[in-house]
Amino acid sequence: MKHFLKLLDCTSEEIIELLDLADQLKKYVKEGKEHPFLKGKTLGMIFEKSSTRTRVSFETGMFQLGGHALFISSKDAQIGRGEPTEDTARVLSRYLDGIMIRTFDQAEVETLAEYGSIPIINGLTDLYHPCQIMADLQTIREYKGKLEGVKLCYIGDGNNMANSYIVGCLKAGMSVSVATPDDYQPAAHVLEFAKAYGNRFLLTNDPKVAARNADVVATDVWASMGQEEEQAIREKAFAGFQVNTDLMSVAKSSCMVLHCLPAHREEEITAEVFEAHANEIFDEAENRLHAQKAILVKLMA
Ligand code: CP
Ligand code: NVA
Repeated sequence: MKHFLKLLDCTSEEIIELLDLADQLKKYVKEGKEHPFLKGKTLGMIFEKSSTRTRVSFETGMFQLGGHALFISSKDAQIGRGEPTEDTARVLSRYLDGIMIRTFDQAEVETLAEYGSIPIINGLTDLYHPCQIMADLQTIREYKGKLEGVKLCYIGDGNNMANSYIVGCLKAGMSVSVATPDDYQPAAHVLEFAKAYGNRFLLTNDPKVAARNADVVATDVWASMGQEEEQAIREKAFAGFQVNTDLMSVAKSSCMVLHCLPAHREEEITAEVFEAHANEIFDEAENRLHAQKAILVKLMA
């Protein structure tokens, strides 16, 4: 594994290996055991969109691994004034040992990887959010004891989270059902990928059909970063695609709930369901740290 750009590039074995390493690294933190696997290494973190979890967990993760993290805001860097990604990649490769980037276009992440000579990590694009899915898989495995055969249901927008859940969960041996409005389906190439998994994948516009007997219900905001001006249209389109107690009643009684955060209560999820599952959701947020450290170690150590 040279980069972590999207889960489509990873084998099932690589995903499970990363999760095992994430569990080990989490144990080190809990036991207070030092683990400076990236001593002397620097990660550049380019942000073209806002972030709380991604920024803080990557920066803290690098520190815990004995390395250094450098925050690069596109507002201040030349990349934000139009310096080509091809040049940025080649320049930063001379200073850094790895780059994490959060941006709009997946092509920018792929270009960084093509032109640079250091590992590139996708910290969210409009198309994918693979680091988040690694944390989610780690959390599901902690709660359910396994991934094989576990059913995840995703409700809402066919966005970066939906695309990444479909690929990551199917590769990890899970079943995936997705309910979106017809006009907000996941990416066509992701649906094409899912076809190969036969009855382990279901796409519907009926949330209750998707949630039936689910072990995990996941959702995300109706308007992602960059889509704020569509908020009103989207609120209309997604009415009925809310994770609430009525929807949860068709899932397994042991069903857990995940949300990558930030959450909009009473939009994609009610406060009642959110608070009833807060332990799982904040374990999921914590696991960003451990899962990403595994990616950093795998690529940069
Ligand atoms: N879930 C997630 O990526 O959070 P941030 O946008 O705060 O990084
Ligand atoms: N789908 C959301 C995820 C935020 C972590 C977005 O892209 O804004």
